[in-house]
Amino acid sequence: MTSTNEIRRSFLDYFTGAGHREVPSAPLVPYNDPTLMFVNAGMVPFKNVFTGLETPPEPTATSSQKCVRAGGKHNDLDNVGYTARHHTFFEMLGNFSFGDYFKEQAITHAWTLLTKEWGIPAEKLTATVYHTDDEAFDLWRKISGLPEERIIRIPTKDNFWAMGDDGPCGPCSEVFYDHGDHIFGGPPGSPDEDGDRFVEIWNLVFMQYEQAGGEIVADLPKPSIDTGMGLERIAAVLQGVHDNYDTDTFKELIGASESLTGVKAEGDHTASHRVIADHLRSTSFLLADGVLPSNEGRGYVLRRIMRRAMRHAHLLGAKEPLMHRLVPALITEMGQAYPELGRAQPLIEETLEREEAQFRRTLEKGLGLLDEATGAMGEGDSLDGETAFKLYDTYGFPYDLTEDALRSRGIAVDREGFDAAMARQKAAARAAWKGSGQAADSEVWFDIADREGSTEFTGYSSTEGEGCVVALVKDGAEVPSADAGDSVIVLVNQTPFYGESGGQAGDAGSISTPEGLMIAVTDTAKPLGRLHAHEGKVEAGSIKVGDTVRLSVDVERRDRIRANHSATHLVHAALRNRLGDHVTQKGSLVAEDRLRFDFSHPKALSDEDIAAIEAEVNAEIRANDPVVTRLMTPDDAIAAGAMALFGEKYGDEVRVLSMGRNDSEGRNYSVELCGGTHVRATGDIGLFRIVSETAVSSGVRRIEALTGEAARQWLVGREDALKSVAGALKTSVDEVVDRVAALVSERKQLERELADAKKALALGGGGTSSGPIDEDVGGVKFSGQAIDGLEAKELRGLLDEAKKRMGSGVAAICAINDGKAAFAVAVTDDLTDRFSAVDLVRAGVEALGGKGGGGRPDMAQGGGPDASKAEEALTAVRRILAGETSPA
Ligand code: ALA
Repeated sequence: MTSTNEIRRSFLDYFTGAGHREVPSAPLVPYNDPTLMFVNAGMVPFKNVFTGLETPPEPTATSSQKCVRAGGKHNDLDNVGYTARHHTFFEMLGNFSFGDYFKEQAITHAWTLLTKEWGIPAEKLTATVYHTDDEAFDLWRKISGLPEERIIRIPTKDNFWAMGDDGPCGPCSEVFYDHGDHIFGGPPGSPDEDGDRFVEIWNLVFMQYEQAGGEIVADLPKPSIDTGMGLERIAAVLQGVHDNYDTDTFKELIGASESLTGVKAEGDHTASHRVIADHLRSTSFLLADGVLPSNEGRGYVLRRIMRRAMRHAHLLGAKEPLMHRLVPALITEMGQAYPELGRAQPLIEETLEREEAQFRRTLEKGLGLLDEATGAMGEGDSLDGETAFKLYDTYGFPYDLTEDALRSRGIAVDREGFDAAMARQKAAARAAWKGSGQAADSEVWFDIADREGSTEFTGYSSTEGEGCVVALVKDGAEVPSADAGDSVIVLVNQTPFYGESGGQAGDAGSISTPEGLMIAVTDTAKPLGRLHAHEGKVEAGSIKVGDTVRLSVDVERRDRIRANHSATHLVHAALRNRLGDHVTQKGSLVAEDRLRFDFSHPKALSDEDIAAIEAEVNAEIRANDPVVTRLMTPDDAIAAGAMALFGEKYGDEVRVLSMGRNDSEGRNYSVELCGGTHVRATGDIGLFRIVSETAVSSGVRRIEALTGEAARQWLVGREDALKSVAGALKTSVDEVVDRVAALVSERKQLERELADAKKALALGGGGTSSGPIDEDVGGVKFSGQAIDGLEAKELRGLLDEAKKRMGSGVAAICAINDGKAAFAVAVTDDLTDRFSAVDLVRAGVEALGGKGGGGRPDMAQGGGPDASKAEEALTAVRRILAGETSPA
């Protein structure tokens, strides 16, 4: 038997042998195509090559492309498990010509591979062509030699293939395999074509046109070829089985499910095992490609698939979560062809286990409610929408799970009633919001959110992408379009732009189209917590609702924001390590140019604390460990050691971010709940520098810090300042500290010497002061001096010296400093009955523009603001001594 892995290889080998370039499968999420939920055909990654927007790297290519058909236009979810050929995940083998070969070569390749390489007998094959495509009909005749009645003209859209309402399309030609007359069914186009005997195995699309909104709008630049062969179907043919679920890969997966549940894939249980095997593939591949379960968009499709499988695991009687235990079997089967599965194994297993454990908590109760509501019902009845909504809202039953659960009993679900109940809930939420008095302009956001749903954020893994414009808001109201010069808020279905939340600034960047639109986005807000509102100005061109636009985040700015955000997590951990577990986050700001982190702590940090925290954060940065994100329930996250953030509201799941080195118990340095965007590894932060530590309020401190280039520039600024200091001191940076210390001590020494010199001067005469000259004033010996730079505290000592020198007399000194004067007078004891030092000082102080003065009759002191009057003060004393004036 040829294994599925060998068949995939031999297809690719055939076409590479024929000169095609082998292209690896693109990821399942088409971030570059906003009109598609998941890649659903092999040609999707080449869409822009077909339409001429991108030049092909080679004129021909071949691939085995992962595809998911669940949610969106091609949706096979409901049928999986109950038919031989429906899958939510499958692989499409394809060969592509981008304006190189066309119909003839495509048909030749198909016929050669099927009949020569793989040896499928020609009589087992039938071809179809679009009814007007005579060229294809003639080519099939010529190349295959099939009789005319086995080249069937089909007039329906079955033979006109389109990727979706938008994109390349063209007439197609399909190859059918006849599984034999023991199976019911007729050839394509016959009344019994819906039977399962003739199975389409290959579709050759002759790409010629481009569609927009379901209408052909243009010819492709060059006629091209796109073919698609479902690997599972061709495996069934080559392995001689009729049912895809009997091929080797599925047999292995179903076998693993049988042995883990202990239930054979027989009778009613067959469908459950099939659902589990199929959904294991789609969920694992979606998880590996970055989709995580959520309540919106792609994440909700993933959740629907997961929960559908989990109900079937429950039906088989599984007592424990089952899905994650099947992942090793899947990796054995497919891990070689798709190494991303192995790389993501821990994430896949953890996410499946968590989701199943969580769902099992409500599954049983929900099924109980369902039984109660439908107990009396029979085939043809319908479950009311209200109950279906309650199952959805309270028990986490996706709508299609409820449908699936009732399918075997022939009971339908009232979809309209379900939708109406959902609409009522939304209206109530809006009323509650308005009642709470929050932002009056929120009406427009509710209108948009109710109509369009939440914006899907694709920016955890990319900074570029395309989106469909779902609304434009100008001056608080929706508008259909905007033109150059308009300031406008743009809303799209999916965006890589982060909307401001959790302290992290919104992204900036541009929104553009190849037709010349250019909007400079300056900020992205997040109204209602679920819409990403791009605020910007139309610089060129115009934009209207329905346009597909290219969204490009300013990557350098985002990188700076990422580094700052990750650094706040590291500093949080470092603060707790250094200061204790009482430290909790009280707020943060993560901007492009800096970060701010507020935390509870009763007192200012010491310089040593700051240095130690900074060193610890930088050590984590240098360790350059990867930053890992996981989705968990809030309880599990806290059990895993995550620090819950202050004031955050959490839904069913939280993102848990682990960062930095492991400790001896295997815990990461930092584990936090966070919805922000982060670096891939701590080394991306580059450098961390705390620039301030201040108080915000009592018990709350604030650290402001810089990372990366901003931190480097800050340090360079400091060093430049140091260099200028060194330059001014005529020394090198290395010597600056010693030089400054030397200068300071030199200065102290000089000050001392200066004071001594002045004192000596006052005592010994000469120099700039008037010197101690004893005069005779009215028969009294008088010494009067004005001394510049003399400190007031020296006055007393100097006057004592003067009294000693004179034996009998009066001495006065005016000490001048900074334009002000201190004035003191001493009278020897023998003269105090004639003159009081206090009176004499008061006369001098008055001359100096001051008032008062005090002391004792033998020694008094005062001061005045006008030192220029020093000589007048001394003269005032002389005049009293001479009896020219008497004391006041
Ligand atoms: N794109 C074509 C298909 O998906 C081949 O069937």
